[in-house]
Amino acid sequence: MVSKSQSVYDQINRPLRDLRISVTDKCNFRCTYCMPAELFGPDYPFLERHEILSFEEIERLTRLFVNSLGVKKIRITGGEPLMRKDLPQLIEKINAIDGVKDIAMTTNGVLLPKHAKALKKAGLMRVSISLDSLDDELFGQINGRGVSVQEVLNGIDAAKEAGLQVKINMVVKRGMNEKEIVPMAKFFREKGHILRYIEFMDVGNTNEWRLDDVYSKNQIIEDIHKDMPLEPIDPNYVGEVATRYRYVGSNDEIGIISSVTDAFCKSCNRARISAEGKLYTCLFSSEGHDLRDVLRSSVSDEEVAKHIQAIWQGRKDQYSVDRSHLKNKRNKVEMSRIGG
Ligand code: GTP
Ligand code: 5AD
Ligand code: SF4
Ligand code: SF4
Repeated sequence: MVSKSQSVYDQINRPLRDLRISVTDKCNFRCTYCMPAELFGPDYPFLERHEILSFEEIERLTRLFVNSLGVKKIRITGGEPLMRKDLPQLIEKINAIDGVKDIAMTTNGVLLPKHAKALKKAGLMRVSISLDSLDDELFGQINGRGVSVQEVLNGIDAAKEAGLQVKINMVVKRGMNEKEIVPMAKFFREKGHILRYIEFMDVGNTNEWRLDDVYSKNQIIEDIHKDMPLEPIDPNYVGEVATRYRYVGSNDEIGIISSVTDAFCKSCNRARISAEGKLYTCLFSSEGHDLRDVLRSSVSDEEVAKHIQAIWQGRKDQYSVDRSHLKNKRNKVEMSRIGG
């Protein structure tokens, strides 16, 4: 029997706390490290409407995760989540679930000027906005669509004006944008937003990841420290993926997400649901556990919760810890399907 608010632990004693829900596999960008345009072209078989979970199905699942499985934080992801029509309606449904403590979204930002106010009104609390460079030409190349930096900055401003808490995510890849590390630090320190640097990861199968392309956490810190001295600060909560630093003599902070050079699997309490309703217990999983067919059968809430509980209890994933000794290359779910 799954009781209300019960915590569920996996094989290495990690509770389930965060649920990351992808609402679409589509995106208006073609970032070279995520959805390279050559591979995600006009003929790419994106999911069809009937294949993706409806808002009602997502609401039901979220309620079960929160009421019976210990989840407290929800993050909406994509692809680009704002490509999904009427998203504020989903946020409203999630916000109405008793026990949800935090609702955030990861977005590339360009559709925020249109939607930020409605999202905030519906109950969204925070957004993580991705931006990898302040240089227009470079950013246009990285996003694969020639989108200008200003369009993202407009999104950032719109989110702030709407009253959403804002963090900025920058993926750092050697040879791509490491020169932007310090300019980005200065720019967002001045603007008052927390910037998080993400080490380039081997998610999916299409981004031709090589260890040599990873610009490490230590290198990032060193580059910034030369200009603006940094000191480490404690995590905000157990299982925070970013290691926090502040500029000495101030409260301005940055974060580094070092999945490759300093794995944080030990405290990983995140489950992910793809737009088509598969449950993934790791960002690097090969296989998801289908929940859509379960939801679309006549199974009771209690049984769905038990099914998910059993999956979490069997979980052993710690891909980032194991990465260096894995012999065979594994087939992994694409980032655009589970949103990071
Ligand atoms: P906060 O709730 O503000 O702490 O946000 P967050 O860091 O959990 O969320 P966000 O989506 O902004 O995370 C930033 C990036 O970190 C993601 O896009 C991923 O690239 C990476 N990331 C998040 N969770 C994991 C994880 O469990 N494993 C790995 N390897 N990377 C992760
Ligand atoms: N490595 C690291 N971060 C990535 N993201 C997408 N692909 C990768 C990758 N290969 C980031 C995006 C965004 C979030 C969804 O994940 O830039 O911030
Ligand atoms: Fe870029 Fe995010 Fe879209 Fe991937 S999902 S192509 S990282 S904007
Ligand atoms: Fe969690 Fe997998 Fe990331 Fe490790 S690699 S922190 S287990 S999602």
